[in-house]
Amino acid sequence: MTAVACASTASWVAQTLGRLERWLDAHLPSDAPAGLGDVMRYAVLDGGKRLRPLLVLAAWEAASGATPDDEAPVWWVAGAVELIHAYSLVHDDLPCMDDDVLRRGKPTVHVRYGQAQALLAGDALQALAFEWLLAPAWAQQQPQRAVRLASELAQAAGCYGMAGGQALDLAAVGQVLDQTALEDMHRRKTGALLRASVRMGALAAGWDGEPLAALDRYGRALGLAFQVMDDVLDATADTATLGKTAGKDAAAGKPTFVSLLGVEAARAYAERLLEQALAALAALPADTVRLGDLARWVVQRQH
Ligand code: IPE
Ligand code: IPE
Ligand code: MG
Ligand code: MG
Ligand code: MG
Repeated sequence: MTAVACASTASWVAQTLGRLERWLDAHLPSDAPAGLGDVMRYAVLDGGKRLRPLLVLAAWEAASGATPDDEAPVWWVAGAVELIHAYSLVHDDLPCMDDDVLRRGKPTVHVRYGQAQALLAGDALQALAFEWLLAPAWAQQQPQRAVRLASELAQAAGCYGMAGGQALDLAAVGQVLDQTALEDMHRRKTGALLRASVRMGALAAGWDGEPLAALDRYGRALGLAFQVMDDVLDATADTATLGKTAGKDAAAGKPTFVSLLGVEAARAYAERLLEQALAALAALPADTVRLGDLARWVVQRQH
């Protein structure tokens, strides 16, 4: 991740990404039957910006005022969110959905392993995410917290969240959506999981009530801004920079913030959402520098 505003956040991101990568590598299965573990590992490891787990960890650190040691439960939470995201990308790229051949600079999972393995790897990653929230020893010792985390993730991923948003996305091909409908679709298909990442990091540190509500406002604004910028980058960046096929939305007839507003107004809209996110952080009695810098990066990123 480049261009994170604050130098200390940039070094925190670099260090945290290294720790996360090692954690994922150590905890993803490699011995699942019929090579399924290899497919799962291909889908998750070696690529991706890891924004969702970074948000989990930044929210946890803001709420707890500490840095997690290697055994801290929050790594399972960060990992679980990334598993749901990785599964959603595998399925999003399938021929029956967006029909993409490139993801994270590599051939998509179905191109590399076939559609059936891609479907199954997605299924297994989704199940594993909930195992990571419910099965470890810390979850058994704090069952109420684990159930709350699992419920947050289930709602974000389910029919009123990401899956529902993906259904709206496919139903909208070739149509013109107004801003309200487009915003609703984006909040579900992408915003819900980003918002949940922030909430889950704070919940894992024991936050609730008003601080959680303020963080929720941050997560909601950031989640929508992220997909607005995904639309902008699809229209303005190149395939090599993105690591996925550029220009797909227009080619597929998808309504996006770019098709509705144009590139410049879509960028300006993302900037207004960034201001909302930063204003929500200002209400918190915690060190939120990293969360602020991550939000700035979401809107100013190049890929
Ligand atoms: C891409 O998400 C899919 C959307 C939800 C828009 P990211 O841009 O976070 O993808 P990776 O994880 O960095 O590959
Ligand atoms: C993907 O949205 C949303 C989910 C994966 C849930 P897009 O279809 O816009 O994502 P990209 O552009 O393929 O990464
Ligand atoms: Mg899609
Ligand atoms: Mg797609
Ligand atoms: Mg996109």
